[in-house]
Amino acid sequence: MSEFKPGLEGVIAVETEIAEPDRDGGVLRYRGIDIEELVGHYPYERVWGLLVDNDLDSTMPAPEPYEPARLTGNAPADLQAETARLAGEWSLGKLNEISDEQARIDLGRISAQMMGIVARSARLADGETEPVSEDVVDRGETAAETFLLRWRGESDPRQVKAVDTYWICTAEHGLNASTFTARVTASTGADCGAALSSAVGALSGPLHGGAPAYVKPMLEEVTAMGDPEKWVRDTLDAGRRIMGFGHRVYRAEDPRSRILKRTARELGSPQIEIAERLEEAALAELERRHPERPLKTNVEYYSALVLDVAEIPPPLAPAMFACSRVAGWSAHILEQKRTGRLFRPSARYVGPASRSLSAV
Ligand code: COA
Repeated sequence: MSEFKPGLEGVIAVETEIAEPDRDGGVLRYRGIDIEELVGHYPYERVWGLLVDNDLDSTMPAPEPYEPARLTGNAPADLQAETARLAGEWSLGKLNEISDEQARIDLGRISAQMMGIVARSARLADGETEPVSEDVVDRGETAAETFLLRWRGESDPRQVKAVDTYWICTAEHGLNASTFTARVTASTGADCGAALSSAVGALSGPLHGGAPAYVKPMLEEVTAMGDPEKWVRDTLDAGRRIMGFGHRVYRAEDPRSRILKRTARELGSPQIEIAERLEEAALAELERRHPERPLKTNVEYYSALVLDVAEIPPPLAPAMFACSRVAGWSAHILEQKRTGRLFRPSARYVGPASRSLSAV
């Protein structure tokens, strides 16, 4: 086990019963259930229950009344800070000192609240300083509808479907960077607020959760230019990456991308045609340049279109991703608590050999 694997690619760090993408089959299953069977049949909060409790009748609780202390309108930063603060506000216990049942309660309370924090932060970014009245928010029948009501005071069924589908498709995806981060923090016995907020930080980078934010401007650029093939060639010649393509795990089509593409079409996304043209051009050119490595459309490409139907501004994409991933993170934090061990990998030292201070 002393072989060095940059990025830990292929290294098995945990055993999990929650989910792991099927690398070659292009299928994603949550606790054994193909996500195709969940989308449109169960709302997100029940999928949360499936992931965390292995029970589709279990559900993420409704958010309890709580006003975040100091929002800035930068949703990922607000989410990370406010999630960590909940540990203090609610006097959450350390994972190594509380029962599994208490950890499950803490995770449910925080998950529901995290969505509320993002909705409030997005409202502030829209220039609205007054919160939506709780009577209006309470009209929400699903987590997605409640989220949109808390943000905008109104909800359109197409937008609710867009958010719900996106959240279900991105609720869990095995040991990705943010989930690993959540497990590492949980492995130290930290509280659930600390574990979830550290995951939010890991998700905020463009190589993991932020790509949809880049897809919409990219599609606008391609539309303005009118020549997807040339745009792809110019971008790759300049050494840049095409956002929404490539994946660390999948070597086949990303099943989430298939569902989101279908949803974007069903919901009448105005960008579907240019997106399909760019996809075709990008897949062909990436295959030509990287015949050794399949670089297919990933979840974030069509996520951008679905989020656009719900009028989610691109900078909010990482926070939307975080809202959906609270399910996967919570499930992994609980699994880590039940079965895991403190993470402590090793580094191979390749710095200078022992030398005298005068040599520095
Ligand atoms: N556009 C252009 N080239 C890409 C690419 C993309 N989207 N994704 C990978 N490549 C190329 C790399 O340039 C590299 O080429 P090189 O060997 O000539 O340098 C090769 O493919 C392997 O890339 P690598 O970074 O080792 O792959 P990875 O498995 O570590 O990366 C991603 C996975 C997702 C980080 C990567 O594909 C990427 O940056 N995609 C764009 C961002 C994105 O969509 N993120 C959302 C992920 S769900």
